[in-house]
Amino acid sequence: MNSIRLRSLPHLLLALVLTFAGIQQTAAQATADAKKEGVAPGATAAATPATAAAPAAGGGDAAAIAAGDALFKGNCAQCHAVNEQVVGPALAGISKRRPISWLIPWVKNSSKVVASGDDYAVALFNKFNKQQMPSFALSDKEITSIIAYVTSQEGGPVGGGVTAKNAAGTDGKDANAGTSGAEEGAGKYVDILLIVLVVVLIVLVVTLVIIGNLMKDVLRGRKDLDGRDVEILEQRFDWSKFYRSPVMRGIVGTVFALVLLYEGVQSVMAVGLTQGYQPTQPIAFSHKLHAGEHQINCAYCHTSVYKSKSANIPSANICMNCHSQIKTESPEIKKIYRAIERKQPIQWVRIHNLPDLAYFNHSQHTQVAGLQCQTCHGPIQNMEVVYQYSALTMGWCINCHREMPLNTKDNKYYDNLVKLHDTKNAGAPFTVSSNGGTECSKCHY
Ligand code: HEC
Ligand code: HEC
Ligand code: HEC
Ligand code: HEC
Ligand code: HEC
Ligand code: HEC
Repeated sequence: MNSIRLRSLPHLLLALVLTFAGIQQTAAQATADAKKEGVAPGATAAATPATAAAPAAGGGDAAAIAAGDALFKGNCAQCHAVNEQVVGPALAGISKRRPISWLIPWVKNSSKVVASGDDYAVALFNKFNKQQMPSFALSDKEITSIIAYVTSQEGGPVGGGVTAKNAAGTDGKDANAGTSGAEEGAGKYVDILLIVLVVVLIVLVVTLVIIGNLMKDVLRGRKDLDGRDVEILEQRFDWSKFYRSPVMRGIVGTVFALVLLYEGVQSVMAVGLTQGYQPTQPIAFSHKLHAGEHQINCAYCHTSVYKSKSANIPSANICMNCHSQIKTESPEIKKIYRAIERKQPIQWVRIHNLPDLAYFNHSQHTQVAGLQCQTCHGPIQNMEVVYQYSALTMGWCINCHREMPLNTKDNKYYDNLVKLHDTKNAGAPFTVSSNGGTECSKCHY
């Protein structure tokens, strides 16, 4: 009994806290790993039928899913998510909606499938405002692995596309309510585990404090204690000393410095970042109305977008092609007339603006690479007022260049380069960066 050292209580608490932190780390790590694998604890049930439903998709094995993950992020994620509609439909359930024999030609060249008169494809194309999905120079195996990845990420029954029944072209509202079951399952599992651990720890601490106090009481009643034991028994934990100790000061100082550093870095990184910028324009011009409902081609107004470095903003004359006749009494349209009378251009507020140090060329991306406007500008045809959809940072440019395969089809300029690339790195995709698209001088003068 004599040897009981009550002083060790704070130490015990510290040890418990540290153990707890350790467990939390391991648990978080476990979820991260589980997410990477595409199979999460607690979500195996959701993953199994999905894999079974895609036997054609390379058996849905981990390697194919991992490969599909990378390909999906590199090529499809700008426009598609698994469980929600982005620019294109949610892809969940795609392996059930469409056979793989339809999916492969679709991804390779969707406009060809639409042009062939395929009912489903035509209905889908119309439903998405006749937006063309870009063509992809992917192999059959790569496409099946993307489908395997999508299937592994499915959260529930989601109908993003058109069902066989409404393929005739009825305007079914999109049902995109699915959530990612795999991730949620894993998240819940960890949450429950942590809550249980916290409760257990609290109970433990309370019990220990009670036991400690009981023992103190028992010891106080005894007469045979020597001086040292009495001293320990009457000792109170000195918090002021604890606060003033160099260790405590060190910890507080370090945490403070780290928070300050993090905030500093965050605000420096945000300098010049204008994602989401949506100024009010002098005339309530709506892309949703013109490019969406009336389906006026982007290049009808932005005439130089396929030909030159910049996509121009249309002059009032282009508006007059229609508005000399349409809605002539509308106060918004009268603003166009006034601008023309005064011989002054409409003062549109510029939204996208790279700093002068960077070189960006539209025709290289729209004409040569065949990218859709929506890849960079988002669903413009649904915007009442345009906003900046992408970050437009250097990292954004570089990330796409690292992952995007070059559109080398029917482009003689690339024939020799492709051969050279294939002999040197067989199998690796011929991306923009393998052609030097991440060299500083390509974008900086
Ligand atoms: C620039 C945007 C864009 C990109 C990038 C894109 N898609 Fe699409 N996708 C669409 C649109 C829009 C549709 C709807 C059909 C249409 O309008 O042509 C679609 C439709 C589909 C469909 C049919 C979905 C359904 O519900 O029936 C599949 C499958 C598909 N895409 C797969 C892919 C894959 C795989 C990739 C990557 C290799 C990809 N898409 C990249 C825009 C895109
Ligand atoms: C009827 C003419 C017209 C059509 C069609 C049209 N636009 Fe525009 N666009 C404009 C005008 C006018 C502005 C400037 C006012 C504004 O920002 O809304 C503009 C602005 C923009 C901007 C922002 C420019 C900036 O300041 O940074 C983008 C991006 C854009 N359009 C993309 C598109 C895309 C993509 C399409 C096709 C889906 C399209 N536009 C179709 C007339 C048009
Ligand atoms: C190819 C034809 C076409 C062109 C070019 C065009 N518009 Fe329109 N615009 C329309 C149509 C169609 C409507 C819808 C009329 C209706 O709702 O009855 C419309 C409606 C509008 C409206 C809404 C008017 C209201 O009060 O409801 C505004 C504002 C407008 N346009 C501005 C512009 C501007 C600015 C330009 C030039 C950058 C432009 N439009 C170019 C066809 C055009
Ligand atoms: C690879 C990404 C990308 C694609 C694809 C793309 N844009 Fe852009 N767009 C940009 C960037 C970046 C800017 C800002 C350019 C600048 O400030 O120099 C921009 C600016 C614009 C502007 C403002 C005027 C200008 O040139 O600065 C318009 C209008 C525009 N884009 C329309 C379009 C249309 C229409 C399409 C499709 C035909 C399209 N863009 C395709 C990235 C893209
Ligand atoms: C969504 C993908 C994507 C984004 C985002 C993108 N690019 Fe590109 N970029 C491409 C593709 C694809 C090519 C290859 C075109 C070709 O075949 O020459 C390319 C080519 C280029 C080239 C020519 C490279 C060469 O080797 O000649 C330059 C310069 C360039 N991009 C600049 C930019 C800048 C600056 C940005 C950011 C503001 C940007 N790009 C954003 C896809 C992208
Ligand atoms: C694909 C195009 C691209 C390539 C390749 C590229 N940059 Fe950039 N860089 C940009 C764009 C776009 C910006 C402007 C970003 C912004 O405004 O946030 C930029 C900005 C910068 C800035 C200014 C700092 C800032 O964040 O505004 C520096 C410095 C820079 N780049 C250095 C480099 C160096 C060094 C390399 C080669 C290793 C390089 N860049 C390669 C596109 C590119």
